[in-house]
Amino acid sequence: MTEDITLTINGTEHELSVPPNKLLVHAIRDDLGLTGTNVGCETSQCGACTVNMDGDAVKSCTVLAVQADDTEINTVEGLADEDGEFHPIQEGFHREHGLQCGYCTPGMMITAQEILEENPDPTDEEIREGLEGNLCRCTGYQNIVSAVQHAAEELGRAAPQSGDD
Ligand code: FES
Ligand code: FES
Repeated sequence: MTEDITLTINGTEHELSVPPNKLLVHAIRDDLGLTGTNVGCETSQCGACTVNMDGDAVKSCTVLAVQADDTEINTVEGLADEDGEFHPIQEGFHREHGLQCGYCTPGMMITAQEILEENPDPTDEEIREGLEGNLCRCTGYQNIVSAVQHAAEELGRAAPQSGDD
């Protein structure tokens, strides 16, 4: 038995037929071929599977695909612009060496995006708190925090200043 669902991912609408017990992360990776989103623990511990769903960073191993029907989802593939220019968050991870094996990185970036949307000028401590659901086995986290700070500075420079017309 399958159910028909519609997922809008990175701005593109997809019609899928999925079994009711299929996890969103598997629909994204296996049905749609968007393998930037990783699967780690499948038990809501590691954050490797984090995507943005209707404005919130969610662990896509904790959501059934049918529960995501009619939602708008952004994955790591949607961060760069259409010319392939890095998003400031990607640029930050690149410049500050915010990754080693890279397995946690897509989830880290999507969570970082939510952190910066809610708080464009976070302290290191606030970044660490925001990332606490995302585990990294490689970096020791400091470079990830620096990467998010780099992105915050870049996004702050790009944002219109108050008083600008
Ligand atoms: S794979 Fe989803 S939290 Fe680990
Ligand atoms: S870079 Fe390897 S798990 Fe984070």
